[in-house]
Parts: sequence; C-alpha cells; structure tokens
Amino acid sequence: MNPVIKALNFRHACKLFDPKKKISKEQVDMIITAAHLSPTSFGLEAWKFLAISSDEVKKALRPACWNQPQITDASHVIVILSRPEVVDPSHEYIKLNFERRGLPEEVTKAYIDRYKHHMETQVFPRMSAYAWCSKQCYIALANIMTTAASEEIDTCPIEGFEKEWVEKVLNIDTNQYEVAVIVALGYRAKEQPPRRRHPLENIVEYR
Ligand SMILES: Cc1cc2nc3c(=O)[nH]c(=O)nc-3n(C[C@H](O)[C@H](O)[C@H](O)COP(=O)(O)O)c2cc1C
Repeated sequence: MNPVIKALNFRHACKLFDPKKKISKEQVDMIITAAHLSPTSFGLEAWKFLAISSDEVKKALRPACWNQPQITDASHVIVILSRPEVVDPSHEYIKLNFERRGLPEEVTKAYIDRYKHHMETQVFPRMSAYAWCSKQCYIALANIMTTAASEEIDTCPIEGFEKEWVEKVLNIDTNQYEVAVIVALGYRAKEQPPRRRHPLENIVEYR
C-alpha cells in the first residue's frame, strides 16, 4: 500500500490518549519539520508553532479547550498560530519575503504588485487576514497529522477551544499572533472506532 495512504488509514481523531506514553524529542522535531516544509500562499510562512509538553501548561490550557481530556492526556500539544499582522501588502515582511527569492528588482516589484492586487481583490473582500493565514495553518496541521501517523503516533485536531482564553493562558502577543488551530499528539489508549465516511461517489466528480 502507498505509505501515505497507510498513514492516513492509521490516523483517527484520537479522543483517548494514554497519558503514560510520551513522544520522543526526535519525533516531535520530525513532526515540526513536516510543518516547516508545508507550503504557504506566496511562500509567506505567516505562522508559528508552539510545541507544548509541560504538564503545567497543558493543565492550564485544558479548561480553555472545552475541558477536552486530549489536552492533558496527550504527550504534546502543538498550538498553531497565524500571523495576520505581516500579510498587509504594505508590510516590510512582504518586501523581505519576495526579496529573499533573489530575483531582479523589477521582478520582485512585479511579485509585490501581484500580491497586493490578489489580496485586495480576492482575499480581503472575502475574509480577514486572520482567516487567510489560518487556512495556511491547516495545511501544516494536515502534514503534522499525516507525518505523526506515519510513525504510528496519534493525533487529535482541536478547534473546540475559546480563542481569547487560549491566547491569554499562553501569553500570546495578539498584535502579532493569533491561535488558528490546536493538535494533540500521543498514543491511543484503546483501539479506534470504525471510520465513518460518506460514500466516495457522493463526494467526488470526475470531469
Ligand atoms: C479542524 C478540526 C477541528 C476538530 N476539532 C475537534 C475537537 O475540538 N475535538 C475533537 O474531539 N475532535 C475534533 N476534530 C475531529 C473530528 O471530529 C474528526 O476528524 C471527524 O469526526 C472524523 O473522524 P476521524 O478524524 O477519526 O476520521 C476536529 C477535526 C478537525 C479537522
């Protein structure tokens, strides 16, 4: 079987982690590498990853996450932060982002103009900078979960949290970063239930 499909078959949203089983530092680093290698629109990387293993921090976080036991039972919790402040087309970060490609000045300028046009006509009329950055964060989330699964590490993506509360617990400077999504990682305490999916023919159309 294709190794990625094998990992995707292994992955379930793990509701019950074994609190005694811990992920090694090397494995956490590898999973974070998967996030690091994830693509972002225009290559902006407007994000940050908080890898939390401290029991004290997880305990403080849990009530802000609907009191979900995954937060404290999991070995690690990765909080994915989006960085909406820097995606404003006039921000210095945008200039630096395109300059780092090492292209001729006029090509860099053309990229910045294209970016500005895209953001002003397609993105900002439809969503906030926070929502746009968060969409990219979910790509990293998927890669984190799949990479973890390839090592038979369980995950649970977590959107069930109160954003402002989580940001307060983690002392996030919300002028720069905002919580996009959370993922708990560890080892399942029992077998996962059968997977529920709509039939493939209901969700795919080949044209
Ligand atoms: C963005 C996102 C947020 C989620 N938030 C939670 C959550 O807060 N708590 C939880 O137990 N499961 C959460 N889930 C897990 C889903 O309920 C689960 O993925 C879905 O029921 C399908 O099951 P499976 O992942 O085991 O195939 C979330 C999933 C996604 C993708």
